[in-house]
Amino acid sequence: MKKPKIAILGTGYVGLVAAAVFADRGFTVFTSSEDAEKVKTINAGRAPFYEKDLDEIVERTVKSGSLKAVLGRREAVLNADIFFIAVGTPSLLSGEADLRLIKATSTAIGEALKDKKEYSVVVARSTIVPGTTRNVIIPLLEQASGKKAGKDFGVCMSPEFLRQGAAVHDTQSPDSVVIGEFDKRSGDTLESFCSEVYKGQNVPILRMNLESAEMVKYGRNTFLAMNISYINEMARIAETIPGIDIYEVVKGIGADWRINPAFLNAGCGYGGSCFPKDVKALISFARLRGVEPNLLESVEEVNEQQAAHMVAMAKQELGSLKGKRVALLGLSFKPGTDDMREAPSIKIANHLYSQEAEITAYDPKAIPNARDRFIRDTIKISYANSIEECLKDADCCMIITEWDEFKELPPELFNKLMKRSVIIDGRRIYDEKFRQKVASYRGIGLGSENAYASEESVLVRLGEKLVHAGLITRMQLNRALEEQKKNGDLLGANLIKLGFIKEKVLLQFLKEEYGIGKRPPSQQV
Ligand code: UGA
Repeated sequence: MKKPKIAILGTGYVGLVAAAVFADRGFTVFTSSEDAEKVKTINAGRAPFYEKDLDEIVERTVKSGSLKAVLGRREAVLNADIFFIAVGTPSLLSGEADLRLIKATSTAIGEALKDKKEYSVVVARSTIVPGTTRNVIIPLLEQASGKKAGKDFGVCMSPEFLRQGAAVHDTQSPDSVVIGEFDKRSGDTLESFCSEVYKGQNVPILRMNLESAEMVKYGRNTFLAMNISYINEMARIAETIPGIDIYEVVKGIGADWRINPAFLNAGCGYGGSCFPKDVKALISFARLRGVEPNLLESVEEVNEQQAAHMVAMAKQELGSLKGKRVALLGLSFKPGTDDMREAPSIKIANHLYSQEAEITAYDPKAIPNARDRFIRDTIKISYANSIEECLKDADCCMIITEWDEFKELPPELFNKLMKRSVIIDGRRIYDEKFRQKVASYRGIGLGSENAYASEESVLVRLGEKLVHAGLITRMQLNRALEEQKKNGDLLGANLIKLGFIKEKVLLQFLKEEYGIGKRPPSQQV
């Protein structure tokens, strides 16, 4: 087969990075967008968004003539032999993926296919639930073109596995290529193109049917999200035991050859445009099929709680957050990108705001995105122009994103600028030496005497102990906690009032648990 020409429909992270890398490997690539501004930017040799190394490669390939952006899908398709559908599939409120762009693109490709004589292959690259290529994309292609899949044109599904911030690297050196094929000819055509792109790189190419390939994408992302929620839950347990460090524990866990520790970094929770959306989409997909996705729901729930947990840690150190100045270092969902989609910083800022803290934030890249689109007017937050400005007079500093420039900050800087250098390290970027030098340090997954210092934590711990000892049931505990919220009385008083425990029994328990005359947590009981 002659060297195929490539069309990439969609100029987001997935589309433009693939377009630039394929062009850089010597293929003629047309990338299409419906947005004239984007087309102009790309043809001027720039990426319309920030992604490490992308500008350079776009500039090089546009200059050499191998990459060209075109307005509308028709021209791209008419010029190419293999077309990749790389449009977005955002979450609907139900959690299902929104397929509007996929449908519009499939129809547009079909219409252009009508006028093409040569055999060509359509490749779905966007993240779509199993069955979408066969049941949504192919019928639209056939309807609009009047042609038959497998006979007149080929169809494949080949998911991408690139990480933002490392998208160029991941596309240049993937650990594998997955090809889901409608028929053998389609798969052969795409495999021959991929082998040429990754010539000499030893990239395994895995061939399977369309549905399995679609499922691989959800499989990988939800597995990784599960790892993160698992380790965040483990971290919360570890934090209650002074001396434990979950990062040390992970070294031990990961030493088992069956466990890969690469994605077991405890932190503020996962964000971004992929994990949250894909976990939601698979939950909703499972339910529609009558499967209750218990594990996936827990993965999501643990992730949601992690932001509140960060704020609880600050409360344990500061007491009430009302009027306290909290400095947030980092806003983007991870370093190396200005992307704010589903960033843990948004949830953390919301929790802080609801506790009436005064928030100042700094991020080397994401402030415009945060200010103009994501944290907008819903909460009050000041944006600092520098790390120093952010830390000035703060009562507490929370590390939300592990940018390199934060890792190098000396403890003296925090001591000098902050009212009191209380650090809540959500990404565990500071070592033992640093920790010793600041006024107070709390890290995700690092055991601390203070893990129960807030009123809520003490109540939860006492309640849990009573349940564990069989003195009350969990339902009774929940009922008493509810009552406690309403009347503000102590938990113990509510348990007695509701008749769930006798005063004598409770006092005996407190005596045994906390010792005679030593009742620190029972102040709140
Ligand atoms: C993720 C996957 O890693 C890619 O393989 C996949 O192709 C991509 O989604 C996608 O579906 O398009 P990405 O969202 O760019 O990539 O970012 P990750 O590096 O995976 O990080 C996601 C989130 O998990 C971040 O908020 C990060 O801070 C968090 N994370 C990651 C942890 O909290 N702990 C870890 O150990 C790893």
